[in-house]
Amino acid sequence: MDGCPPGLDLSPVDIQGELDRRRPGVGPGASPRKEEDRVEILSGVFEGKTTGIPISLLIPNRDPKSSDYDRLRDVFRPGHGDFTYQKKYGLRDHRGGGRASARETAARVAAGAIARKVIGEAGVEVFGYTLELGGIRAERFRREDIRMNALLCPDSRAAERMAERLEAIRAEGDSLGGVVEVRATGCPAGLGEPVFDKMDADLAKALMSIGSVKGVEIGAGFQIARMKGSESNDPLTPEGFRSNHAGGILAGITNGEEIVIRAACKPISSIGKEQETIDTHGNPRRISVGGRHDVCVIPRIIPVCEAMVCMVLADHLLRQDGVRRKA
Ligand SMILES: Cc1cc2nc3c(=O)[nH]c(=O)nc-3n(C[C@H](O)[C@H](O)[C@H](O)COP(=O)(O)O)c2cc1C
Repeated sequence: MDGCPPGLDLSPVDIQGELDRRRPGVGPGASPRKEEDRVEILSGVFEGKTTGIPISLLIPNRDPKSSDYDRLRDVFRPGHGDFTYQKKYGLRDHRGGGRASARETAARVAAGAIARKVIGEAGVEVFGYTLELGGIRAERFRREDIRMNALLCPDSRAAERMAERLEAIRAEGDSLGGVVEVRATGCPAGLGEPVFDKMDADLAKALMSIGSVKGVEIGAGFQIARMKGSESNDPLTPEGFRSNHAGGILAGITNGEEIVIRAACKPISSIGKEQETIDTHGNPRRISVGGRHDVCVIPRIIPVCEAMVCMVLADHLLRQDGVRRKA
């Protein structure tokens, strides 16, 4: 991780807590893989403080099981990166744990933990939760509920129904998708850039770069296309904005309101249910993917989404220091 300011208190404990939230085996719908994810800081920290040089982190994978993937050597899993990797590189390491694997999200979460400290110093807090899973949507928002159910849903009653649905789908050898919502509070107005690196553009790219994320919405999102201007505008009052359809961003720049962003996640592609595919020679095959897969990326993807948002906000906070220097 490059660009972290010097003098920030940082120890492996700061990062470990976030990694533990991403680990497989956490929550319903999780894979039984045991990625222990112990982080080691290799550089960039001296006597508990960041030095300003790049921070290297090492997170060994202590539970790989390559043999799980033997059956996939010559066949493409529908919905996964097997086919496109083969097309791009002309060869493919089928053994799992590669760049199309969620294993790479450990690095995002570790770096995000550092970014979280950077933005925390500016009073910005980022938290995410399950808005929807398998078509079941949270009907109310109670922040305290998020910590009270394994699916990190702000509506505990909806969480129960989501968990039941997950178990039923697991039994069918199938999988589910869902929607994660991330909010950033305490973000000052003025962060972002006016043209290519707009805050909303950077956030969308950051979230879309996570495996399984297929759509991003900000504020009112796609719903805003169905509103009239008089409905979608957030009126300004001396006390602040009267509503937040903008999701905290106007013209690519934060307006001081809460940033609200959603990521639509597709169902896990590796499913036990038999499906149609082809082998590397183009012959038709049937495939049932075994191994230790998640049933849904939720809730494991939540700390990953949070990490990406933290990194984008940290970048823009640091950039803003060069625009309007603090007195
Ligand atoms: C936290 C997380 C966990 C995931 N777990 C699995 C898994 O167990 N099995 C699987 O096939 N895909 C899993 N995925 C999804 C794949 O990484 C992703 O679908 C794949 O790379 C194809 O890319 P795409 O979905 O962006 O098209 C997971 C993704 C995330 C973010």
